[in-house]
Amino acid sequence: MFPGNVLSIEDLSVQAMEEIFQRAAYYKSEDRGVAFSALKGKNIVLSFWEPSTRTRVSFELAVQKLGGTVLDLRPEQNSEKKGESLEDTVKTLRSLGADALIFRHGAPGLFGRISRTVDLPLISGGEGCYQHPTQTLLDIFTMKEAGIVLSGLEVVIAGDILHSRVARSHLLALPAFGARVTLVGPPALLPRELVPPGLNYTYSFDDVLARGGVLYLLRVQMERHRRFFSSPGEYAALYGLNEKRLALLNNETFVMHPGPVNLGVELSTGALHILEANCPDKVLIQKQVRNGVYVRMAVLDLLLSGRMV
Ligand code: CP
Repeated sequence: MFPGNVLSIEDLSVQAMEEIFQRAAYYKSEDRGVAFSALKGKNIVLSFWEPSTRTRVSFELAVQKLGGTVLDLRPEQNSEKKGESLEDTVKTLRSLGADALIFRHGAPGLFGRISRTVDLPLISGGEGCYQHPTQTLLDIFTMKEAGIVLSGLEVVIAGDILHSRVARSHLLALPAFGARVTLVGPPALLPRELVPPGLNYTYSFDDVLARGGVLYLLRVQMERHRRFFSSPGEYAALYGLNEKRLALLNNETFVMHPGPVNLGVELSTGALHILEANCPDKVLIQKQVRNGVYVRMAVLDLLLSGRMV
């Protein structure tokens, strides 16, 4: 039985995630540019209170490819501006005939509370620093597609752990597939209280580069920072993957990033060009973006058909 909403990775069993991956692989292999029919007659509302390119466009494409209708609710134009509560907005959408709401919002937990009172399937496209479940799903799908075996895999998640909803979702999902996670970042962005018991962490980026597995770089979320590091340049010097550090990087390591990349901060333009030229199979960043469409198609299909377990 599908949980009804996708707000957190905790909503999904390993079996449900595997079913999403199978369905995403099916949609990817069968995509001939002609719409499928899984969402025919369904109205899917997209409403993003925070900026997004990948998540928003891939969800929109996913609905279109499944034959559904996208309704674009722009937060700056909706009746919240006239004092309506968000809960009432969601109730209104349900009464208008919406079949699901895909949202991004800065307030963690807000939609979880709304889901307890309004019977409309909700899908998170990222919630504050809390969770980004479909990003994690598309990342794991991309790893599997690249032939990476998750059981026993070491995944180093590097950078702005403090503000990362992506890291929080990965910390739930990757161990469920048998992967070992190591966190690395500056002390101000990797507070010890955020490190789950038993998990490895270090403040030395150079020490983790020789390991194999996956190096998952996080975006430094400048918009959420106050006083955590003195400058992007200081961050890049200590934690940026640059040309000099490529010499330390294990040849077997896959490099991932959820995007958008702050070029010159967590990843230098030169290092990216060298990686893309010399070992394109090891840089999964654009594959992650592409797979977002198929993974989100699978989530929508399984959520709205009620077939997910
Ligand atoms: N990875 C991600 O969520 O990107 P966007 O902010 O562009 O959606």
